[in-house]
Amino acid sequence: MPIATTIAELARHVGQTVTLSGWLYNSRSSGKLLFLVVRDGTGLCQCVLEKTAVSPEAFEAARRLGQESALRVTGAVRADERSVGGHELAVSEVEVVQSAAGYPITPKAHGIDFLMKNRHLWFRSQRQWAILRVRHTIVDGIRRYFNDHGFILIDTPIFAPAAGEGAQTLFAVDYFGEPVYLAQTGQLYVEAAMMAHRKVYCFGPTFRAEKSKTRRHLTEFWMVEPEIAYADLDDVCALAEDFVYELVQRVLRERRMELELLGRDLARLEAIQKPFHRITYSQAADILRSGQTRTTFEADLERAKARVEELKRLIAEKEAERGAAGIKEWKADKLAQEILDAREELADQEEAVRNIPTHMELAANFEWGGDLGGSDETIIARLHDRPVFVTHYPRGCKAFYMKRNADDPRVVNNLDLLAPEGYGEIIGGSQREDDLDALLERIKEDGMNPADYEWYLDLRRYGTVPHGGFGLGVERTVAWICGLKHIRETIPFARMMGRIYP
Ligand code: 4AD
Ligand code: MG
Repeated sequence: MPIATTIAELARHVGQTVTLSGWLYNSRSSGKLLFLVVRDGTGLCQCVLEKTAVSPEAFEAARRLGQESALRVTGAVRADERSVGGHELAVSEVEVVQSAAGYPITPKAHGIDFLMKNRHLWFRSQRQWAILRVRHTIVDGIRRYFNDHGFILIDTPIFAPAAGEGAQTLFAVDYFGEPVYLAQTGQLYVEAAMMAHRKVYCFGPTFRAEKSKTRRHLTEFWMVEPEIAYADLDDVCALAEDFVYELVQRVLRERRMELELLGRDLARLEAIQKPFHRITYSQAADILRSGQTRTTFEADLERAKARVEELKRLIAEKEAERGAAGIKEWKADKLAQEILDAREELADQEEAVRNIPTHMELAANFEWGGDLGGSDETIIARLHDRPVFVTHYPRGCKAFYMKRNADDPRVVNNLDLLAPEGYGEIIGGSQREDDLDALLERIKEDGMNPADYEWYLDLRRYGTVPHGGFGLGVERTVAWICGLKHIRETIPFARMMGRIYP
């Protein structure tokens, strides 16, 4: 009897006859041999069927099987370094579970819009498979970190009666005739729970009506928010630093294969060590206006321009090659994909050439008091090889609940953590305003209705203590760790402005 197993387990079955159950990823034949690349959810395996091993009908049926047909293959396992996954199956039997035809995502080239519309199928492709496995480990790592460090999980509500993070990005919902909002954050609620349990966290989906289409914004994203009692800004930074460091270590330990498949430069992740860099907002403002920033931008611009020329040349060459007489179909398909990829990169590089001068100007004229923009964050992060905390922002550009600094009342005790390599802010957090009068004053200043926050103000009336916490966005973290330009591939079904299907 063959042993039923999975591709991930093949190393334990070398020399034995096993049955794999999965789907046909792709296939090619060369006369007497048929190469079936099978995926089973745990990996890929090349299964080699010799014409003489089965009946002519069975061989022909296997040869005609369409991509993504469901099948069981039985055969002897042999170790093969050159093969995907390191093993091969010498097939003795193929059982078709369902014969599929016309699978839309072929080895041919596809644009991103097509792929996003076919997200429910695109999942099965290797890169997407790898990304969601890394996401799984990040989510698992988040839960384990807080559970192992004495935090109590508090599930916070999705229906929120008032804004938690600024009124501009609220999604209103009809709640029995009364307008309520989808939660932008669980923070105010974990602050209440922190007073009961000391160290708590919430972890769930959050919603923001982001009206801009950027690489970093979703309208529905996952956020983990720890909150700790008797803590100041330094304590919150120390927690964020250790947490992010441990998360990266876990992914490096558990998902090396997936990161390699994604072509991630592992050395950049291995370089993440404690302590992270720490600068204040005012220092960041000085850096932005400095010659160092200008030099970096100028070098970027030159590089982008050179790459544009190189890509144009490359695309022209590949177009010519693809149009050549007598070209093999697989080769033409491969070229089509490469051309599409090169075109996408070309569009990005051309965009960079257009944008860099604007970013340079924004940085050079950066005025104290405004929030850091995406390009500002990128440049600050680029100048550091590890994640960098930017602290003490002007209070005017930050949320109402942040603690006013005792020495410089113009700023608050907050932190943003910028990921390296220009991935932007992955964490936002702060020490909280624990003084009732100061908090009330700020709520009024921001034009919010104190009555909506009565319960929250109670936390300052009864046993208020210094405390703080932060929120880490899962998708931005996945994008950074996987090295993805765009956040849309980091969540199973992305929700963005103009995208709600499937
Ligand atoms: O900086 P934010 O807005 O902070 C808060 O919501 C606080 N209440 C957290 C806290 O202190 N408990 O958001 C935190 C993080 C960001 O750094 C980013 O990683 C992510 O959430 N984030 C988004 N991710 C994807 N799409 C969006 N539209 C996001 N907005 C925020
Ligand atoms: Mg923020």
